[in-house]
Amino acid sequence: MSAAPGARTAVVAGATSASGIALTRRLLADGLGVVAVGSDAGRLAVAFEGLEGVDRQVCDLTDESAVGGLAERVLADHGGADALFHLVGGWRGGRGITTQTTADYEALHRSVFLTLFNTSRAFYDQLSERGGRLAAVSATAVAAPTAGNASYAAVKASVDAWLQAVAHGFAGGGTGAAATAVVVKALVDDALRQQHPERRFPGFTHVEDLARVLASLPGAAATEVNGARIDAVGA
Ligand SMILES: NC(=O)c1ccc[n+]([C@@H]2O[C@H](COP(=O)([O-])OP(=O)(O)OC[C@H]3O[C@@H](n4cnc5c(N)ncnc54)[C@H](OP(=O)(O)O)[C@@H]3O)[C@@H](O)[C@H]2O)c1
Repeated sequence: MSAAPGARTAVVAGATSASGIALTRRLLADGLGVVAVGSDAGRLAVAFEGLEGVDRQVCDLTDESAVGGLAERVLADHGGADALFHLVGGWRGGRGITTQTTADYEALHRSVFLTLFNTSRAFYDQLSERGGRLAAVSATAVAAPTAGNASYAAVKASVDAWLQAVAHGFAGGGTGAAATAVVVKALVDDALRQQHPERRFPGFTHVEDLARVLASLPGAAATEVNGARIDAVGA
């Protein structure tokens, strides 16, 4: 892999999904180098093999020490991260409050929150030093939780609170860095539309639109986007 000399570096955590692939391609088109992170080497290769400017990194983002090692490699190989885009998600729900299970809650906590907790701490100093951007995707469920998605909404709310806390840290340090939540209801891509031609996907955000919003953050003023919740809900 190689990016243009002096290119800024973005880490895409959870890069192999449709949204991760769309974001990675947009960042490359914007001239950034991308460290594409996933838990599986095969899926990373399928998504990015042969794509110039992509450094594929296998890392279990629930593993604190593995994420620390990832941050050290990004510092050594790229000089540090200028942006961290956190796209690891997942969904589990029940029919109501009493059918929310501990197993589902713990799985959501690990995939949705713990991965952000680990990556944002490991890359905090790099982002601070480089006036970088941290962004994660939040959900409309935080403001309008239902009994059926109670655990998911609660975990996503913790993502929002954590991003606000990181934003407070960036602002207090006078770093020029920014932490931002981008809010969607649900995501759709061309493959999903083709599988379900009968569906309209109201309120869904196309992954290319999400990628456009996320990729605009490095070019936005930190004062405009630090601590912001950007509405990217589809039509
Ligand atoms: N999809 C929706 O409708 C929707 C709705 C609201 C909000 N969001 C949010 O939007 C963001 C993107 O959603 P998405 O549906 O595209 O994401 P997703 O399907 O949850 O994608 C997860 C990505 O994270 C990687 N991943 C999962 N566990 C990992 C781990 N332990 N270590 C490293 N990588 C891991 C997966 O790759 P590997 O399996 O290859 O590791 C995959 O690339 C998420 O934050 C999600 O919560 C999505």
